[in-house]
Amino acid sequence: MSVQAIAWSPTGAVRIIDQRALPEARIERDLESAEVVAAAIRTLQVRGAPLIGIAAAMGLVAGTRELRGAPREQFLARLGQLVELLAAARPTAVNLRWALDRMARVAAATPGDGSAIWERLHAEATAIWEEDRAMCRRIGEAGLPLVPDGAKVLTHCNAGALATGGIGTALAPIYLAHEAGRALHVFVDETRPVLQGARLTAWELSHAGIPCTLIVDAAAGSLMRQANVDLVLVGADRIAVNGDFANKIGTYPLAVLARHHGVPFYCAAPSSTIDASLRDGDGIPIEQRSPDEVKTVAGRPVAPAAVAALNPAFDVTPARYVTGYITDRGLRKAPFGED
Ligand code: MRU
Repeated sequence: MSVQAIAWSPTGAVRIIDQRALPEARIERDLESAEVVAAAIRTLQVRGAPLIGIAAAMGLVAGTRELRGAPREQFLARLGQLVELLAAARPTAVNLRWALDRMARVAAATPGDGSAIWERLHAEATAIWEEDRAMCRRIGEAGLPLVPDGAKVLTHCNAGALATGGIGTALAPIYLAHEAGRALHVFVDETRPVLQGARLTAWELSHAGIPCTLIVDAAAGSLMRQANVDLVLVGADRIAVNGDFANKIGTYPLAVLARHHGVPFYCAAPSSTIDASLRDGDGIPIEQRSPDEVKTVAGRPVAPAAVAALNPAFDVTPARYVTGYITDRGLRKAPFGED
């Protein structure tokens, strides 16, 4: 069984698992306002492209609860401010803007006062979450034939249940293969500097009883050279029309290594991750995070305090390295049309 990363609280707040605390502690937090949701997204309490879109949509609802009695114009004006606040929380995952734009469109098209619009927004945020859960399952079904009995899979970062509203994207075929009784083994890149692989993927796979082994990011090449990897499965934060895609820093070198060693390399993502406005990956905004994340491990300094450090959170993998895209619409090849 996979974990559930998000829910409504009984009072209508956004309930998340605070992912900063994993794996030591499983702490649930109820986020009461859009401002608190935006801060939770910025600080990686809630993360992963599809999940931040869902959290932002739900955050809009939680953040407008008090305005239910407000006149239409006042409600929509405040909603517009909160959309921009949430959209600015992180730049790379297109799912964030996609979910917020969808909520704003629905609000504008709903007749009536704040209360009518709020009810409609509540239903829409729940629909975004439920659709994501269904898309994860379809991604799992599309990717299942790629994970035969005995498969050795390598993954990077966390593109599992902790990153989505369902069973994940890159991890979805793994969950379904395990459910089908297939023996498989997952090598998990630790994913410096924030260690999403070590802290989150290793935790959720272990929780589900799926055999996995943690490796340092630098071990992927020698593992492939020893023929210990049958395929690489990763997620995406934004896919351009030509198939170039952004994902957690370290994905691009993994793709180059996979090509060098003849290992199939798949990108798994829902349709909401395709950015139809971008021809190629050059236009994808890459989030730069604090150098402190590089200079510390688990809060302890591992570098001289004064040394400069670069911390791009994502890189872009050119489409030519991708064997295929595992999507909710099946196994696909780039380029993408009007998705
Ligand atoms: O910085 P993060 O942890 O939000 O980065 C997440 C990733 O890079 C995931 O691989 C991506 O969002 C896909 S999640 C299904």
